[in-house]
Amino acid sequence: MRTDESAASGDTRSDHGYGDALIWDDDVQQLWERLRTGPAVRHNADGPSIMASPTAVDEYLHQPELMSSNPGAVFLGSETGLIPLQIDPPGHVRYRRMLDPLFTPPKMARLEAEVAALVNRRIDEFIDRGNCDLASELAVPIPCGTFLRLLGLPIGRLDEFIVMKDELIRPVARDADDAAAIRSRAGAWVFELFGEALDQRVAHPTDDVIGHLVRLEQSGELTREESLNICLLQLTAGLDTVTASLECFFSYLARSPAHQRQLVAHPELTSKAVEELLRWMCPVPTVARIFTSDAVVEGCPVSAGTQISVLLASTNIDPSRFENPTEVDFTRESIKHLAFGLGVHRCLGSHLARMELRVTLAEWHRRIPSYRLPEGFLPTYSPAIREITYLPLEFEPGAREG
Ligand code: HEM
Repeated sequence: MRTDESAASGDTRSDHGYGDALIWDDDVQQLWERLRTGPAVRHNADGPSIMASPTAVDEYLHQPELMSSNPGAVFLGSETGLIPLQIDPPGHVRYRRMLDPLFTPPKMARLEAEVAALVNRRIDEFIDRGNCDLASELAVPIPCGTFLRLLGLPIGRLDEFIVMKDELIRPVARDADDAAAIRSRAGAWVFELFGEALDQRVAHPTDDVIGHLVRLEQSGELTREESLNICLLQLTAGLDTVTASLECFFSYLARSPAHQRQLVAHPELTSKAVEELLRWMCPVPTVARIFTSDAVVEGCPVSAGTQISVLLASTNIDPSRFENPTEVDFTRESIKHLAFGLGVHRCLGSHLARMELRVTLAEWHRRIPSYRLPEGFLPTYSPAIREITYLPLEFEPGAREG
């Protein structure tokens, strides 16, 4: 999910003393390593500070009373805060109790066949060409289509959703005020669309996420405003994150024929490959927080009200947590990465994301065993979430299945 506005506006790229072409570039792990071994908190005059020390990250993400994720950390289109991300404990736990049962591994497994069908339909559209833009032809439509199915919304609204999500998550804006205005407008638009879907479920109950929210409204556990807010966060959190993960994965794999061969020969390693690539590529490298009181973090003073980008990615390459952390190894015994965050706000959709990523990798390698980037092409990554908006791949043409 897009959780760090400063990163999106580019501030941290130029202002934290590491020069240009940093956090999001191809050799980003070298920067994460430098940040990991530097001061626990690095202040930045024009944007959020950065917390990169794995021990501090661990300690403070477990103490939301000291470091909050409320809208003061980053404005994401809702003044009251997106539910549950921007709600601090104790209120937060009530929402997670309601929402966790909707995203369990068995519930996600029920969507698996439909996701596989979606992936194969997409592959059918380009496989006989021998090339594709992985970003627009697979990585964007798969999570969007899955999201519509999960919420019980018509797939025909896919294009609208893509526009809304882009305005909410990555508004094209002149400055921060303009970005906030675009986001507010997009938020209102989303509320109207979801409101219609919720109203329909009152008359015609369904077993999807929106149907479940309506039942909670009817039992008095949720207000309509809360339901809309929850839908908004799922859109913000569940689309670009999976898109970016697919793009990061294929950007890496396209340059590693040995890993491609391994996945083709041993499809049973696909789940582990997903975890290892989440660790190494960390598509959502930071989360946004705000200090609630003055603190001294491993010797670094931080004032109340300081906005902070918490670097999850530095923990993923910490040698005290991972043996040979710079090696991408799909056979690692244990891969306890922080790509889905840490503490009370750890990702609600991790099982959904894992299923989408595993199914997409599995179907791709079943049908396209060998692929590469065009000669001379170097992927570029967007700020904040590591999306690659254009990712051309080349391969031997194959046969359509559909
Ligand atoms: C690979 C894909 C994904 C990644 C890397 C990812 C990453 C994250 C991270 C790092 C957080 C913590 C945010 C924070 O602490 O500030 C988070 C929270 C969250 N994610 Fe994901 N996410 C992914 C997919 C999804 C999907 C598919 C959904 C769909 C429901 C989703 C829904 C959420 C929600 C609702 C939260 C807030 C949870 C809370 O505050 O209790 N995420 N995610």
